[in-house]
Amino acid sequence: MSYKNSHDQCSNLDHEQDSEFTRMTDKAVSRRGFMAGMGALGVGAFIGMTPIAQSVQAAMGTVVKSKLIGFKPIAVSTADKVIVPEGYNVANLISWGDPIFANAPEFDQSGKAPASAQALQFGDNTDGMTLFPLSDKRAVMAVNNEYTNNDLLFDHKGENMTADDVKKAQNAHGVSVFEIKKTSQGWEVDRSGKLNRRITANTPMELTGPAAGHDLLKTAADSTGKEVLGTFNNCANGETPWGTYLTCEENFHNYFGTADESYEVPAEQKRYGIKPADKRYQWSKFDERFDLAKNPNEPNRHGWVVEIDPMNPEAKPLKRTALGRFKHENAALMIDNSGHVVVYLGDDERGEHLYKFVSKGKYDASSQAKNRDLLVEGTLYVAKFSSNEGELKGKGEWIELTFGKNGLTPENGFNNQAEILIHTRLAATQVGATTMDRPEWVAVHPNKMSAFCTLTNNKNRGKKDNQPVDGPNPRAGNKYGQIIRWMPVNADHTSAEFDWDLYVIAGNPSVHKKGLEAGSSNITSENMFNSPDGLGFDKGGRMWIMTDGKYSNKDDFAGMGNNQMLCSDPATGEIQRFLSGPIACEVTGLTFTPDQKTMFVGIQHPGEKGKPSHFPAGGNSKPRSTIVVITREDGGVIGA
Ligand code: FEO
Ligand code: CA
Ligand code: CA
Repeated sequence: MSYKNSHDQCSNLDHEQDSEFTRMTDKAVSRRGFMAGMGALGVGAFIGMTPIAQSVQAAMGTVVKSKLIGFKPIAVSTADKVIVPEGYNVANLISWGDPIFANAPEFDQSGKAPASAQALQFGDNTDGMTLFPLSDKRAVMAVNNEYTNNDLLFDHKGENMTADDVKKAQNAHGVSVFEIKKTSQGWEVDRSGKLNRRITANTPMELTGPAAGHDLLKTAADSTGKEVLGTFNNCANGETPWGTYLTCEENFHNYFGTADESYEVPAEQKRYGIKPADKRYQWSKFDERFDLAKNPNEPNRHGWVVEIDPMNPEAKPLKRTALGRFKHENAALMIDNSGHVVVYLGDDERGEHLYKFVSKGKYDASSQAKNRDLLVEGTLYVAKFSSNEGELKGKGEWIELTFGKNGLTPENGFNNQAEILIHTRLAATQVGATTMDRPEWVAVHPNKMSAFCTLTNNKNRGKKDNQPVDGPNPRAGNKYGQIIRWMPVNADHTSAEFDWDLYVIAGNPSVHKKGLEAGSSNITSENMFNSPDGLGFDKGGRMWIMTDGKYSNKDDFAGMGNNQMLCSDPATGEIQRFLSGPIACEVTGLTFTPDQKTMFVGIQHPGEKGKPSHFPAGGNSKPRSTIVVITREDGGVIGA
């Protein structure tokens, strides 16, 4: 997660190149998954394996014990609290509605508080976040506030919306930036912090890069096509080594609508899910910027990655059009050995794609000011995977999304680079990109040899013509999800070629005794989970997996409990459960202090859809999204 992972830690881990690659090819398909795959897809796959891979497959039965993972794993839980391993402490840092300014009112759980109060408080539905250290005892936290629940935000549950209610919801979205300080009681919010800031759905921002100023980005209020208001549905995040925060706009389509029955949604907007009905948020009824008939181009101004300077509360957030427009999950940024900035990007929707941006310029560690424009210009690629039938590993290529190349020409509806970036999904389809099982977070291993993406689930797999069962997406109606790993050729992340495998196939070996539904061999009845979503590395190379899945704890999900966080060592494949969240929450958002001895984790939407959670305050209180702080009683490194 920490951007320091990307370049500070690489040199002493480079010797692992061979071993990790060898393990990858050998463990590409774990025993249970592979055998199951053979059963389903034919024995040709096994014949196609190298002898060493065959012998490893034959020998595998247990995962090698990791030297990185030292905690005692926890059992699943359905309790309404955060559970961590023995010897660990958990405390609350901040919850939705808590003040982040000295003059802000305290949270009012009646649902009657006005928009003006929410503007000074922590937004709702905490998601991706990054800690920016100022000293050992002070830091700035930048946190996404993804969305709102009408049931919890309003006393009328969204049944009787007013203009102020829409403003209040807009103020509960965006990004919260606030200083935290370490006291004898632990980390707490400093409401007087000079860097504290709320960025909302109405904060002025600038569109930058190749699409900025294009006619498709102009509206009645903005004839330049560069001046945008706000960011919303900020899902996960990224950070840069030049000290900025990246927030990623995901399900922007839900915020638009129109009462004008003559309005027809154009095909390029349909691809992003834009619909005239606006039942959920109802912004278009009170804020005409969101009325599709009045401002048909406004949706084009959302669905971007936004770069924010957390050290300057006056700095305008910058939307980076070079990174494409889609339902962005996170932005996994690393400095390639060549010096180019590489950003991996998932588009979280069933059958959408995995992307990579490579900067034109190179990172210059001696002058951070020079690095500020590195995300303005570069090349965007989309992934195409291939594999032999029945194999859960293979080769892949990054296909360039550049005007004039790969069929991205006027004959096919693309007139310039701006149109390719605004309609990124259409361009990806044009070049034949692989449709994936909902790409969520990407994380790059600190040794820079490999990258991972959570493919959370996909009920459409095998049921829609454009989503066939294939190597990286091997299960029809995928309920449990998988994590894919890729290794760029020669560890060059600017390369067009890579090898890939499935690092883990989530499943339920208690319910399904065999086949891919039982999961890969590193899944057992003790560590099983479904729908991997959040993903991040610590400096030591532990991979942290957060889930956003089914918490029914029955049928196909029996024995999986609440959503959770697990710790994995990619060198061995071991996965152990570290944390269980409260009722009906999602665990999402992860950042560490530089010494790796304090971990911050986001608990999003406890008690969603009316489920009986009162986290964090208990009693009869309203459930509230909350960031928790995890430390060890002995002061050691988290996870070790
Ligand atoms: Fe906001 Fe794809 O999760
Ligand atoms: Ca997510
Ligand atoms: Ca998810």
